[in-house]
Amino acid sequence: MLEIQKFTKIIAANWKMNGSINFINNFLNDLDDLTFENINDQSICIIICPPFTYSYLIANKLKNCYLGGQNCSLFLEGAYTGDVSASMLYDIGCQFCIVGHSERRTIFNETNNEVSIKATNSLKKNIHPIICVGETLQQKNDNRTKEVLSKQIRESMNDDSNNDNTIIAYEPIWAIGSGLTPSLDEIEDIHNFIKNEIQGYENYKILYGGSVKSANSKGILNLDSVDGLLIGGASLNVDEFNKILSF
Ligand code: 13P
Repeated sequence: MLEIQKFTKIIAANWKMNGSINFINNFLNDLDDLTFENINDQSICIIICPPFTYSYLIANKLKNCYLGGQNCSLFLEGAYTGDVSASMLYDIGCQFCIVGHSERRTIFNETNNEVSIKATNSLKKNIHPIICVGETLQQKNDNRTKEVLSKQIRESMNDDSNNDNTIIAYEPIWAIGSGLTPSLDEIEDIHNFIKNEIQGYENYKILYGGSVKSANSKGILNLDSVDGLLIGGASLNVDEFNKILSF
């Protein structure tokens, strides 16, 4: 496995259920060579998380970027029609897997306990889980953000996780795909809270996600407590993505 702590910044592209073979060919052609120079210094980690159907295609074409899954099965193998296991992801070259994305939690009713099992499965199969947490707008307005995040983190992580094998992504649900983001001070405050105040989760690498684009990415990445970004929509536009990577 990789030593997560050695990375100074981690930029992950979550393509969600978007893309096609044509899109991927164009995207990879247009991904800036500068990106690769950046990555060659070994301290920048760029992760592309395509839909499963395209993972293998990308695995064979990616240079200097890491490959990630968007989800993995609750089970290790067997009669689970439609599922993809952590070991299958590893087999095709994935080193990361997003688990507990808010779209999985809300649309597919994934619980913290299930997220924790998926994180365990990932670690068992040498994959670094990227565990997503985030509050709803209602919870934010009720001043419950820290309480909610603390519970999600404690219940979604497992005993095998440590700050060198697991990444946390803070994605406020109200910021995803909305064009809204927390202020820089709010992001700093929440990341510092997770790093310093939730016992047992000190110094985890924490990515920020939610309406990141080239116009706001530098400001967010420059925050000391932000170790990287988890990008949805803007990662599908290669020009935007190149700009974000040229920080
Ligand atoms: P957007 O960047 O489209 O807001 O999505 C964020 C996200 O959900 C990444 O996992």
